[in-house]
Amino acid sequence: MKLVLLGPPGAGKGTQACKISERLGIPHISTGDILRNEVAKGSSLGKKALGYMNEGKLVPDEIILEIIKNRIVETDASRGFLMDGFPRNLKQARMFSEILNSLDMKLDRVINIEVSQDEIIKRLSNRRVCEGCGKVYKVDGGDLNIEEKRCERCGGKLKKRSDDEINVILNRLKVYENETKPLVDYYTSEGLVINVDGNGNEEEVTKRILESL
Ligand code: AP5
Repeated sequence: MKLVLLGPPGAGKGTQACKISERLGIPHISTGDILRNEVAKGSSLGKKALGYMNEGKLVPDEIILEIIKNRIVETDASRGFLMDGFPRNLKQARMFSEILNSLDMKLDRVINIEVSQDEIIKRLSNRRVCEGCGKVYKVDGGDLNIEEKRCERCGGKLKKRSDDEINVILNRLKVYENETKPLVDYYTSEGLVINVDGNGNEEEVTKRILESL
């Protein structure tokens, strides 16, 4: 299946993408993860992207489209994919259609995860990520010692993402409203959107998504 996951920052796109891609046997393609990886490597692409990311702004379309053009022709994506964080505005969505057309592919579904703003702020403020492998954690029930813990997968340190400070979260939410939310209408007009309630625990949301597919 060829799927796009839409939703505001912190809606749980990355969390759900890991589970859904595993269940469906398709690669999870996250432009945010690809960019963070480039930043960690200190590559020239990472250096160009870092300033935008730290301010909660979108990285320029040319950079993102180049990433997608290269990634989508990799062998594993020929049987399907789950896009997480791409496309992010109308230009990217239109260019993505052109890229897919040129490869004789088309999208099957766009899953739109809906969560309230209060819940988003809570989730992002409580998110920690592994410095080593990027695995996502949350501060649960006042677990104030989480930063002293180590990643269960690779033993790396857990830290806050630099764009999870409240001023940057609020900017990302504005960017989402202005640039990304219009994609819900864009893909609805193509008959592709499934709206999924993103409240409740992770397993409940995964079940809703799988049932809706
Ligand atoms: P990106 O990494 O895509 O960030 P985002 O869209 O803002 O989304 P997040 O990763 O913050 O949240 P998520 O929805 O994946 O939530 P998660 O599952 O982690 O982009 C980062 C930056 O890169 C952008 O700002 C931009 O600069 C740049 N960028 C990326 N793509 C781009 C593009 N296409 N064009 C231009 N620029 C681009 O969950 C959040 C927390 O909640 C976690 O702690 C998790 O454990 C917890 N959680 C998840 N589900 C639940 C649940 N059901 N109940 C309780 N807690 C939950």
